[in-house]
Amino acid sequence: MPIYNSKFTSFGSYVPKRVMTNFDLEKIVDTSDEWIRTRTGMMERHYAEPEEAASDLAYLAAQRALEASPLKYRDIDMIIVGTVTGDHAYPSTACIIQKKLGMKNIPCFDLSAGCTGFLYSVDVAKNYIENGTKKNILLVGVEVLSKTLNFKDRGTCVLFGDGAGATIISRTERNDISRIIDSVIYADGSQSDLLYQPAGGSRMPASPETVEKNLHTVYMEGNRIFKNAIRSMYAATDELLRRNKLEAKDIDWIVPHQANIRIIESLADKLHFPMNKVIVNIEKYANTSSATIPIALDEAIQEKKIRRGDLVILTSFGAGLTWGAILARF
Ligand code: ACO
Repeated sequence: MPIYNSKFTSFGSYVPKRVMTNFDLEKIVDTSDEWIRTRTGMMERHYAEPEEAASDLAYLAAQRALEASPLKYRDIDMIIVGTVTGDHAYPSTACIIQKKLGMKNIPCFDLSAGCTGFLYSVDVAKNYIENGTKKNILLVGVEVLSKTLNFKDRGTCVLFGDGAGATIISRTERNDISRIIDSVIYADGSQSDLLYQPAGGSRMPASPETVEKNLHTVYMEGNRIFKNAIRSMYAATDELLRRNKLEAKDIDWIVPHQANIRIIESLADKLHFPMNKVIVNIEKYANTSSATIPIALDEAIQEKKIRRGDLVILTSFGAGLTWGAILARF
């Protein structure tokens, strides 16, 4: 049994200024606005500048989450960053953010779970809070996937954008209605070759040949992931509903990973859940991987869609393959 409960205290997000529309992509890739819009729901995405790295985006999102909270910087006792496009292979982007924020003597680490990186981070943070080890954990989902795209692979390069979303997960006060109620995370490593970056790790270190063959970029078998995505997000959501004796109609909002509008609509359909209660911003940002859910949450709270007391399900899937869901009272 947990000793304490955890909750989302505040959110913040940041996307780079440069906007890349479908029409801009038409000029460099054999694609069309019509194909991208109808097959994915995406209209534009944001790309980082050459000098901008993950920690730059993450730092700004983290600062906004901190400003939106009643906490002081010294109250943060851990930083977790969900990312697969960190500044460097090492040190962790979490350590770089710690330096930028001037926070000392706290544990900081990155968590690699593809697009499920944010949900995995929430699950880890929840456990640290519940067992009483930590009180306020800063979490960032950040991705600069534009720098790892193969613009000769039209089936993949049009899908991704850059961005960062941050939250603080804190121990609840007594009588607080807000609470992260439950979470599930899973992986199926037997499908790890459906979505990966072939070169740049110890399996295939960088060489002139790997660069020439575009192997430092996202390789994805999108249509094989498609059905998997719907099935796994549905299974995780259904598990949380059953375990907590809830039905889909009891949920106020679902915030799904923003990978494809058709995946989101199929999930809502399978759950018999109305699309007007599903948070969607894929048209503006495309797939920002581990940043989609915290960016969507930050916006939905600012737009006063998600309000205090609402029952919300977050669900995602990604490279690994990984997937999961979180049930929270906001
Ligand atoms: N522009 C124009 N035509 C295109 C493009 C493009 N950008 N991309 C593919 N096509 C063509 C293909 O060549 C193909 O043509 P053909 O029939 O003549 O061979 C046709 O469109 C259909 O291709 P499919 O791949 O079957 O298209 P599909 O409808 O499956 O959509 C997509 C592809 C968007 C990738 C979809 O499968 C998808 O969203 N999959 C899930 C992707 C995903 O969510 N990945 C997880 C990311 S999470 C993470 O961890 C990073």
